[in-house]
Amino acid sequence: MRFNIAVLPGDGVGPEVAAEGVKVLEAVGKRFGHSFHLDYAPIGGVAIDEFGVALPGETLNKCKRSDAVFLAAVGGPKWDDPRAKVRPEDGLLGLRKQLKLFANLRPVKVLPMLVDSTNLKPAVVKGVDLIVVRELTGGLYFGKPKKQWQTAAGRKAVDSLVYSEKEVERILRVGFELARTRRKKLTSVDKANVLESSRLWRQIAIELSSDYPDVELQHMLVDACAMRLIQRPADLDVIVTENMFGDILTDEASMLAGSMGMLPSASLAGIPKDGERTFGMYEPIHGSAPSRTGLNMANPIATILSLAMMLRYSLGMVQEAEAVEKAVSDVLEQGYRTYDIMDEGKTKVGTKEMGDLVAGQIV
Ligand code: IPM
Ligand code: MG
Repeated sequence: MRFNIAVLPGDGVGPEVAAEGVKVLEAVGKRFGHSFHLDYAPIGGVAIDEFGVALPGETLNKCKRSDAVFLAAVGGPKWDDPRAKVRPEDGLLGLRKQLKLFANLRPVKVLPMLVDSTNLKPAVVKGVDLIVVRELTGGLYFGKPKKQWQTAAGRKAVDSLVYSEKEVERILRVGFELARTRRKKLTSVDKANVLESSRLWRQIAIELSSDYPDVELQHMLVDACAMRLIQRPADLDVIVTENMFGDILTDEASMLAGSMGMLPSASLAGIPKDGERTFGMYEPIHGSAPSRTGLNMANPIATILSLAMMLRYSLGMVQEAEAVEKAVSDVLEQGYRTYDIMDEGKTKVGTKEMGDLVAGQIV
């Protein structure tokens, strides 16, 4: 079968890690007999430099025509002026909104060979296997009013945390459905002791739970969840939460896996059900890492694991996804490490070498 993948390398280390992802995808194609047609397009800072906008219409069209979108990273100091009219991040946010990618899945799995390589005690991170379901097209990121203005008493600014019942229900259902396929435990994270939007969220979670009697629903305040993530992370399984809370908690959670360079993500337009294909965008959770750019340093594993998620959720290739995940853990088992997860007695490799090693396990 032939699949059409929109490839958006973006800024900073984006093109470097994207190239390794493509290498792995080609290895999958070769071994399993698939043909992936890659349609490259600019996004973020590179698009601003070339077209004056972070998300050119042609890029959006290519994404809409694709079976799945593969994005690496956007942003960088060059475009960071807070007074700027256009920002690289607008490209990413625009894509999420326009492609209706409301469900962002961020799995955090601590691989056994990396248990000793994180900043936390091995006993704390051992066995961690959780997934954060982050709402991606609502909340503070998109709520209106959203503006800055001048008043007689000085400048003011507002962002709005807005959610409709529909938006909350569909993301909670993603959480419940995923919990069903795992340990049947769902932790709904909110700030219901303070925020009205969280009280609506919690109410809807309680109402929906009667549709999922096999799933144990637990509510947790976001500040308590931030603590729990480093206190007893192995207790957590599926976490479902609003956009901004999910953004913050997943950077924190990435440290459990050793590095941001290990965490993949999938942003989906539908509820993932076993075997069914869902349109989605796949990207590492890390950013463009300007200080590492052009140095062949960045860890491409988060990108490669994002492609495994693409194979699983958007292309219906479970076996292929598992082959990629196994290749990654085999290479780590053999002792190869990029700088961010480097440890005593291991072999340090660069971005390209890591990509070659993983692709080499697949073919
Ligand atoms: C993420 C990133 C983005 C976000 C930025 C780059 C806009 O931090 O995907 O977590 O805040 O969603
Ligand atoms: Mg983030």
